[in-house]
Amino acid sequence: MPASGPTLSVAVHRGTSDGSTLRVDHFTVPAHDSQTVLDVVTWIQQNADATLTYRFACRVGMCGSCAMTVNGVARWTCRTHVSKVIRDGRLEIGPLRNLPVIKDLAVDMDPFFDKWAAAGGSHAPTATRYDPVVDIDPQAPERVAANAGIECINCSVCYASCDTVAGNPAYLGPAALNRAWTLVNDLKHADTKGVLDVVSGSGGCHNCHSIGSCTALCPNELDPLSSIAGLKRATTRRAFRGR
Ligand code: SF4
Ligand code: SF4
Ligand code: FES
Repeated sequence: MPASGPTLSVAVHRGTSDGSTLRVDHFTVPAHDSQTVLDVVTWIQQNADATLTYRFACRVGMCGSCAMTVNGVARWTCRTHVSKVIRDGRLEIGPLRNLPVIKDLAVDMDPFFDKWAAAGGSHAPTATRYDPVVDIDPQAPERVAANAGIECINCSVCYASCDTVAGNPAYLGPAALNRAWTLVNDLKHADTKGVLDVVSGSGGCHNCHSIGSCTALCPNELDPLSSIAGLKRATTRRAFRGR
């Protein structure tokens, strides 16, 4: 369907991670005010190529499922306006880096969530439902530190932006380590030692080179870089104490 009015020139990465099927397709898409990158992808799928595969759910920045690489940078596409990222009237949209491609723009998130679990990311309660509820001072430094990191939506933008993950697939990565830091500071988490054991290991926090792409690009304005710095301090203190 030929578009009338202003248009965008959009290149979309297609295929699977099997190199023989990878290609880039080009589309001309009608341009609109306040258009998001996800709107562009949806227009292509509904009007130009119904086989285009991508992932989204909430469309309002809550679920973390719509992240893609847009003009070379990982973004949550439902909250990224085209006007902010377009270069010379062109958009290039691809899957997230550092994760296997399932098809087109949809990546396999298993390695991301496996590392979240491997970093000790499951909560271990200090009490049962039958014990009295213990108050936690909301101003306690530990609670304040934990609160700073808990709004992660698991979008994987930080993970895709991390050069250390790209060079060392065993590295747990910024989101898993950010989660670990919230548990280290959670006064109701029973296994702080277990978390510190894992994050001080070979794939842990000391691999981070502290340049901070994760913090610069987190769409929810979290600060994994500072969380990882906290883990480095905690694990180093522990090592000096011989534990
Ligand atoms: S600061 Fe560390 S975790 Fe963040 S992107 Fe850089 S290497 Fe990765
Ligand atoms: S820390 Fe930020 S960028 Fe990373 S997964 Fe969580 S919300 Fe996304
Ligand atoms: S679709 Fe849910 S965060 Fe974008």
